[in-house]
Formats: sequence, structure tokens, C-alpha cells
Amino acid sequence: MSQTRDEHLFLAMMQQLRVYVPPHPLIKHWLGVARDAATPPVLFKSAMIELGRWLTYEAARDWLPTQEMIVQTPLAPCPATLVNPEVPLAVVPILRAGLALLEGAQTLLPLASVYHLGLVRDEKTLEPSCYLNKLPQQFHPQTRVLIPDPMLATGGSIMTAMAELRERGVDPALTRIISVVAAPQALQKLSVAYPELVVYTATIDEGLNSSGFIVPGLGDAGDRAFGT
Ligand code: PRP
Repeated sequence: MSQTRDEHLFLAMMQQLRVYVPPHPLIKHWLGVARDAATPPVLFKSAMIELGRWLTYEAARDWLPTQEMIVQTPLAPCPATLVNPEVPLAVVPILRAGLALLEGAQTLLPLASVYHLGLVRDEKTLEPSCYLNKLPQQFHPQTRVLIPDPMLATGGSIMTAMAELRERGVDPALTRIISVVAAPQALQKLSVAYPELVVYTATIDEGLNSSGFIVPGLGDAGDRAFGT
């Protein structure tokens, strides 16, 4: 059912971006490892993979579609709740740094389609530009989309990603973002544009420095994960 502009505005006002920081010891542990400047690239990448796994686990809670079935145990028929394989699942990692989170996410969502989106920030203007777009022309309207991007800084990259997804029919209410460190600036932008979105992040940091890096943050996740 299509909404009028006023109905959309009313719904947007009634909703608020939900940002979850799961109080999980493994998420805290791997965040600490990732933040430590002494952590070498190979361990940093492992930390990102683990964070991808546990943040996906948390994000899947109210997002992964299930169906009720009856299965036959060795002894008797029994009701069971299984993941519904008919609802399309998509993971859209934001390259490069999102690739490490993707590795962890895929251990939990092995059947999800993966559509790569390569975005890079200009170091001076902080404006993102797109160098790889493997998104389909159109998503099925029921597609559940997971976006792994370890850093939400100015919010320029995630807003670009969301605009590309919206254009292709993705419903923000069925979309989950997983990030490791999120700055208030990025969350504010998402909140205004997509109040129905849900974000799972290992932490919300204080803000950005004059170069657009999250403080205290973890440095440049892409460079650290790939040793560049
Ligand atoms: C980083 C990070 C995010 C983006 C966040 O990517 O991985 O995608 O910056 O910044 P924003 O919120 O200000 O847009 P980067 O451009 O450094 O590319 P990389 O992952 O290839 O290192």
C-alpha cells in the first residue's frame, strides 16, 4: 500500500532510529583488541571477523524470518521454528573495511546473497565516491538487507549506501546496519533520513577529529585490516 507524503512524514515522526550497543563480553573484548594500536593487522582482521559474527548474531534477533513447521524427531512429531529460506537475504558490505565484518556475518548467514559496494572517502573533502557497485537493479521488496561497515564517521558513506539501496526498492525497516564504532554525527544523519532503520554497533564514540576520524575510534579500519 503506498503512503501519501503526509502519511510518510507522520510515520517518520512517530519512529526513531534504534541503535543497539549489545552488552556482550565477546563484543567488548574484540572491540578492545581492535582499538589497541599495538594490535597487528592479522589480529585486527580476526577481531573484525569476530565482531562481524557477534554483531550479526545480535542483529538477526528480530530480523531473520522464520517459519513454524512440524518435524519428525526419532520419537514423535514436534513443532519447530526454522529459518524461512524463501525470504531473500542480502548482505551489502561497504568496501574495503566491511569485507572483514562480512567474513564473520557469512558464518551465520551462509545462504545470503552478497552484493559488494565499494566506497572511498576523499581524504580532504571527506566526500565518498563509489568505485564498485554490484547491486542488482531491483531488490524484492521483502528482502532483508544487512550492511556491514565498521565505521560510521561523518555518515557520508552509509548515507550513500542507503540511497543506492532505496533506489533499488530496499525497505529501510527491513535493513540492519552492523558497525564497530559509530559517531553521533552519522547516527544523527541516519535518524533524520531513515528513522525506521536499526543499527547494531559495538560502541558509540565521542565524535570526530578535524581529519574526520572517529575519536577515540580505532584508526583506519581498512588499512589496519589489510595491512596497507
Ligand atoms: C571508512 C570506513 C567507512 C567510512 C566511514 O572507509 O570503512 O566506510 O570510512 O566514513 P564516513 O562515515 O565519514 O563516510 P574508507 O573511505 O577509509 O575506505 P576503506 O574501507 O577502503 O579504507
